[in-house]
Amino acid sequence: MKNLGLGIAIAGSGSATPTQVLSNDDLSRIVDTSDEWISSRTGIKNRRIASNEESLADLAARAGQNAIAAAGLAADDIDLIILATSTSDDLFGTAARVQHLIGATQAAAFDLTAACSGFVFGLVTASQFIYTGAYRNILLIGADILSRWVDWNDRATCILFGDGAGAVVLQASDRDRLLGFALSSDGSQNQELNLAYQAQPNPLTDNITTSTGGYQAITMNGREVYRFAVAKVPDIISKALFRANLEASAIDWLLLHQANQRILDAVASRLDIPSEKTISNLANYGNTSAASIPIALDEAVRSGKIKPGDTIAASGFGAGLTWGAAIFQWGKE
Ligand code: ACO
Repeated sequence: MKNLGLGIAIAGSGSATPTQVLSNDDLSRIVDTSDEWISSRTGIKNRRIASNEESLADLAARAGQNAIAAAGLAADDIDLIILATSTSDDLFGTAARVQHLIGATQAAAFDLTAACSGFVFGLVTASQFIYTGAYRNILLIGADILSRWVDWNDRATCILFGDGAGAVVLQASDRDRLLGFALSSDGSQNQELNLAYQAQPNPLTDNITTSTGGYQAITMNGREVYRFAVAKVPDIISKALFRANLEASAIDWLLLHQANQRILDAVASRLDIPSEKTISNLANYGNTSAASIPIALDEAVRSGKIKPGDTIAASGFGAGLTWGAAIFQWGKE
């Protein structure tokens, strides 16, 4: 429930990506694939890959600092940092490390995990803290280094993913620019896309066994995830639009999780949204998971494509399975 007439404005964006570029031709020297296959099936040409010296915290902090500067704030204005990620540097969480790197000494910080839906789930979560009056300035970062968890021998998955971070600052405002949202999860399909714990049994005593292990590489049933995305994403955007009391024709920009150009095109076509209104940068970055929406948003804002007051329909979807949509107006003017 909204309180005290408080609304949110999304006041600034930032992003950061690693410098190493992995092209389709590079991949064709690692697995049995080709630029032609990858380009025509996914739209991806290049992706940025973190080196072994780059941490998730560093990428997230750089994106966060850029967003804070774009919002015209200082680090110690930030009350809360939410880091949406599935590839934490530390299973206990990376957000506090980001808080320290940024110097956001007044901010509480925590991680949120919802795979490629993480940014949209984070946007809705952050908004609740503003609606209740608890916080006024929140830094939301989506950041992932999926390259750490890719099986580089699996041509069906290794061609898809890249690394990066994107961020926005949400601010308390008299007028609410989050016009509508909807979130969904379906754990019954969890097995379609996993980065799962892999246990080794470790007998401690005669009757107590624990497990020790790590995580196995990403496994995905591509066809099922594709079908799921094309079926569920238009529905959840329509639900969020209904809650916003808007028609699809009122959307200035369709900003989907950058998974596959064919998914972007199919969703736009089902909603009758022309391709000129669909934001796509996956040719350069591939699927950067929780980072893909805020990186694409930041690029479109900085290039002048997205202008203050524009209405954006954002939708994330992925492992869990999870999916969500948020309809919001850009900027605080
Ligand atoms: N190069 C060449 N051939 C390949 C490659 C490759 N990289 N990968 C698969 N193939 C082959 C397959 O072996 C198969 O061959 P076969 O017909 O002889 O068996 C053929 O190409 C077709 O394979 P499909 O899996 O049917 O290919 P499809 O057109 O479905 O594309 C893809 C695969 C790109 C993975 C697609 O299914 C997709 O994008 N799925 C959705 C993924 C996604 O959106 N994930 C989002 C969430 S990510 C997250 O939450 C972390």
